[in-house]
Amino acid sequence: MIRVRDLEKCYAPARPVLKGLRFAIEAGEVFGIVGRSGAGKSTLLRCFNGLETYQGGSVEVMGRQVKDLDSAGLKALRQDMGMIFQHFSLMSRKNVYENVAFPLHIWHTPKDRAHGRVMELLELVGLTEKKEERIQNLSGGQKQRVGIARALALNPKVLLCDEATSALDPDTTVTILDLLLDINRRLGITIVVVTHQMEVVRRICGRVLLLDGGRNVALGGVEDLFLAPPLGLEKFVEQEFTFVPGGTNIRLMFPRSISQQAVITTMARDLGVGFSIVGGRLDRYRDDVLGFLIINVADQDLDAVLGYMREKHLHWKVLP
Ligand SMILES: Nc1ncnc2c1ncn2[C@@H]1O[C@H](COP(=O)(O)OP(=O)(O)O)[C@@H](O)[C@H]1O
Ligand SMILES: [Mg+2]
Repeated sequence: MIRVRDLEKCYAPARPVLKGLRFAIEAGEVFGIVGRSGAGKSTLLRCFNGLETYQGGSVEVMGRQVKDLDSAGLKALRQDMGMIFQHFSLMSRKNVYENVAFPLHIWHTPKDRAHGRVMELLELVGLTEKKEERIQNLSGGQKQRVGIARALALNPKVLLCDEATSALDPDTTVTILDLLLDINRRLGITIVVVTHQMEVVRRICGRVLLLDGGRNVALGGVEDLFLAPPLGLEKFVEQEFTFVPGGTNIRLMFPRSISQQAVITTMARDLGVGFSIVGGRLDRYRDDVLGFLIINVADQDLDAVLGYMREKHLHWKVLP
């Protein structure tokens, strides 16, 4: 669907912000692009729909070389790629209906067809009742629903989301993410999610590209990223804990199919040692609930515990 090869982009000469990126996004995926602020995520997303030019490599979208498109080609490309933004970019003085109808109007869709489409979209995002409401009277979550409906108006194949939930509270974020996942599953639309929030990636993405300083530092399944965060980015991927002094803190990760309860109790029983539990969490991923546990192991038990974990092929890491 989207194929990026050796992409190089700079705004100022000799100051690249995207460096040799190479990856592909397949049709039907929810693909995450994640990284700290300034990593180059928005720039990369804007290369997909020709809002940015680039200096090296290629971006191919649905068989089209973005670089080679003339203005008519770009217009057609953008029709196939809807986009939503952190601050919604809606027309605040117009009502919900008018905002969603806007792209249809621009493309001269006949009135009755446009009306049918708008009503269908409002139903999809759950705003039928609000169709006459002015944008300025809506909550953040409702505004983003309007943004999503508008982005889908022209039946795009891809939906690009740039920090689409970054301005929303955690509960609203979850409802918007669930809506996006639902749209992906029911309509088969490919979704590209740009975000600096790992919890967004965790909740809806299947695969993820982790960018740092314009470089690809990890690419693969979301679960794999959490099991083995790249060096130097552990704090970005994981969240910090306060540790008890003494002993060794070990983070045990539990991918699907491993019950943590059983692992911990079996290890304690088999080795005849005890350890304290420092912290842990269960997180909801798109299809699973996965978790980790941090245990504190006394110095005299450490070798036995490490040996056991190696032997059982557990996913673990000694924390500094
Ligand atoms: N229009 C622009 N002109 C010059 N530099 C820019 C422009 N947009 C972004 N940058 C720079 O490019 C880098 C990547 O920015 P951006 O793609 O916005 O990162 P992210 O979305 O990951 O926060 C940053 O160093 C930023 O300052
Ligand atoms: Mg950005």
